[in-house]
Amino acid sequence: MTEVRRVLTGITTTGTPHLGNYVGAIKPAIEASRTDAGGQSFYFLADYHALVKCFEPERVQRSTLEIAATWLALGLDTSTSIFYRQSDIPEIPELTWLLTCATAKGLMNRSHAYKAQVADNEAAGEDPDYGINMGLFCYPVLMAADILMFNAHDVPVGRDQIQHLEMARDIAARFNHRYGEHFVLPEARVDDFVATLPGTDGRKMSKSYDNTIPLWLPEKKLRKAIMKIVTNSQEPGEPKDPDSASVYAIYAAFANERQRVEMRQAFSDGIAWGEVKQQLFELVNAELAGPRERYEALISDPQKIERELKLGAERAREVATPFIQRLREAVGIRALA
Ligand code: TRP
Repeated sequence: MTEVRRVLTGITTTGTPHLGNYVGAIKPAIEASRTDAGGQSFYFLADYHALVKCFEPERVQRSTLEIAATWLALGLDTSTSIFYRQSDIPEIPELTWLLTCATAKGLMNRSHAYKAQVADNEAAGEDPDYGINMGLFCYPVLMAADILMFNAHDVPVGRDQIQHLEMARDIAARFNHRYGEHFVLPEARVDDFVATLPGTDGRKMSKSYDNTIPLWLPEKKLRKAIMKIVTNSQEPGEPKDPDSASVYAIYAAFANERQRVEMRQAFSDGIAWGEVKQQLFELVNAELAGPRERYEALISDPQKIERELKLGAERAREVATPFIQRLREAVGIRALA
């Protein structure tokens, strides 16, 4: 008998979704959820993770709404996959504690995200712990709980999350060794084919560089944002190199094979930058116009989204509630008689 593989991934709710999130994570996940033959998939909004670095309550709430509306507008099928909000599952923080007590502090000391912040502090002549809260330090344990709660096999993530998956495996193995085989050891699935999108300034599109193009800009603003993407100063008529142009990289992420070939030809024929941008706008807009209407409708009906999430949470808890009970028993949190 082949076991059903469970896929799980989470999105931290701190910002407004941009084209880079769409191409790099959301679109491939939704496509995978539709083609998954018989597998089970879990997608969730990591709002507890957001609290580690975002101290603006309105923003956490707004981002949760926007990200939920985004997944639904883009066609996530919530009848086949389980879509929920982390904070609706009380078993997750409970499991976090059980795992915290099975996690070596030394393992957390080695976290890249934590070490980077310590290094920044030291470089700035600050105390090494300056600005570091325990949420940041323990972030990998909460993430391990997200994954282990549902015994996920495959976790699609970006490269920057590989270490967190290794830590989740490490924590799971230690728990299993101590209390018996309860957890599957999860694996990171890093897709080498999905594009890392450049932003408007040519560096990787990222909130931290302030170079993003928001996914749901209205048409006119989307066009404007695309027109602002940096290019070099080559004139119309001069042959251009697609492989060093951000506009081409973004175009390629949305185009099919034939469109890519034609655009590369246009580059060698000396297409003007303005024309490339116009074509890029048309391509992106054509893909997003339909979902954008659904997004607008959803965002103005938060109750509908709330209901979706509550239903998702119910389904997630059908798994989580009995499992946490088993884990409580395993560690000795038991009725006395
Ligand atoms: N840490 C992930 C990120 O920033 C988000 C996340 C939280 C996650 N919990 C998870 C991803 C569990 C996969 C599985 O991208």
